Amino acid sequence: MTDRIGFGLLGTGLVAPFHAKGLLNSQKGALIAAAEVSSERLEKFTGEFGCKGYSSLESMLEDPAIQVVNILTPNHLHYDAVLKCAAAGKHILVEKPPAMSLREVDAMIDTCAKAGVKIGVVLQCRVRKPIQAMKRALAEGRFGKILHADAYMKWFRAESYYHMDAWRSSRRSGAGVTIQHAFHYIDLLQYLMGPVKQVRARMSNLAHPSVELEDTLLAMVDFQNGAQGIVEASTALWPGTDIRIEVNGTDGTAIMIGERMETWKFKDERPEDEEIRAYGSAAVATGATGPADFGFLDHQTVIEDMVDAIRENRDPVIPITSVRPTLEWALAMYQSAKEDGLVVLPVMNEDAIWEAAVAK
Ligand SMILES: NC(=O)c1ccc[n+]([C@@H]2O[C@H](COP(=O)([O-])OP(=O)(O)OC[C@H]3O[C@@H](n4cnc5c(N)ncnc54)[C@H](O)[C@@H]3O)[C@@H](O)[C@H]2O)c1
Repeated sequence: MTDRIGFGLLGTGLVAPFHAKGLLNSQKGALIAAAEVSSERLEKFTGEFGCKGYSSLESMLEDPAIQVVNILTPNHLHYDAVLKCAAAGKHILVEKPPAMSLREVDAMIDTCAKAGVKIGVVLQCRVRKPIQAMKRALAEGRFGKILHADAYMKWFRAESYYHMDAWRSSRRSGAGVTIQHAFHYIDLLQYLMGPVKQVRARMSNLAHPSVELEDTLLAMVDFQNGAQGIVEASTALWPGTDIRIEVNGTDGTAIMIGERMETWKFKDERPEDEEIRAYGSAAVATGATGPADFGFLDHQTVIEDMVDAIRENRDPVIPITSVRPTLEWALAMYQSAKEDGLVVLPVMNEDAIWEAAVAK
């Protein structure tokens, strides 16, 4: 226990047990405490996971046993929490999306750099083995000329999901399929393809009439590397099926479904390809059918990487700087849907974007 790095969790809602289980299962990190405004939730959580409880972030930040704070509050609250953690000299893992605006993300990057603390984002799909294999193959040029990169997220969330907590139906709190659910897969395309040149998006609410949010996103994108792509994301499509990430080039095609490699085919077949084709399992849930229908191992990987990053004094595996372009692309999609036109990046007026972006 003594040589483990101590973690504190801010927020004990839906995602917190995934962090707690990752820590309890880890030899590198230790779950020290959680901070939560709801005393009922805090009591239940500390009882279940056997950690200390604090009623505020400020009081948890005084705990010297905590070196890293995982920020698990609703999206619009991440920014303030990051600034407070950095001021207290704590390293930070912030859940996705890191913040609601590029201005906030830039301030977070700057503040953490000045405070000498590390900040990583929990976009745990990046560490899946099929995605890492695609990333390596792209770096090695195995796809040839990249032609297409697509993300399909055909999920289902019941109407009741949007009313579990007030922020889930509030656009200004970071709700909506684009910024909330699809953010993972928009991020995977950005991570694999690099910067976006322009995007044309349409957003609609197909099946959740009690909320004024987009539950469905359709977007066509051009990447700066010359590839084109599609993002199709929805929480309206019962019963919900596993996400697909597809990359096609002149010399190869790779497709991940859920967390397993579905297709891995290159003109230059290599001995290791047989093993890569077996990556992942169709039995592992990845969120398609309900908000807690996924495993904690990817979270554990991101958490343990933060421990290694601290010990090795390097950046975490998903540094916040690498997520800024994902947020910019997501904002560009909101702008495109709102203006009903093509948006060429960079995004110029992000403040206007959160005004009524949904088509009903
Ligand atoms: N990486 C993933 O796969 C994944 C999955 C689900 C959610 N998330 C992200 O995790 C974050 C939280 O989502 P959730 O579904 O757990 O939300 P939630 O509403 O279930 O939980 C948030 C908790 O934060 C608490 N809280 C709010 N303000 C607080 C404050 N100032 N101090 C202490 N506690 C406070 C709330 O009382 C609540 O219990 C969001 O950013 C979401 O996007 C990520």
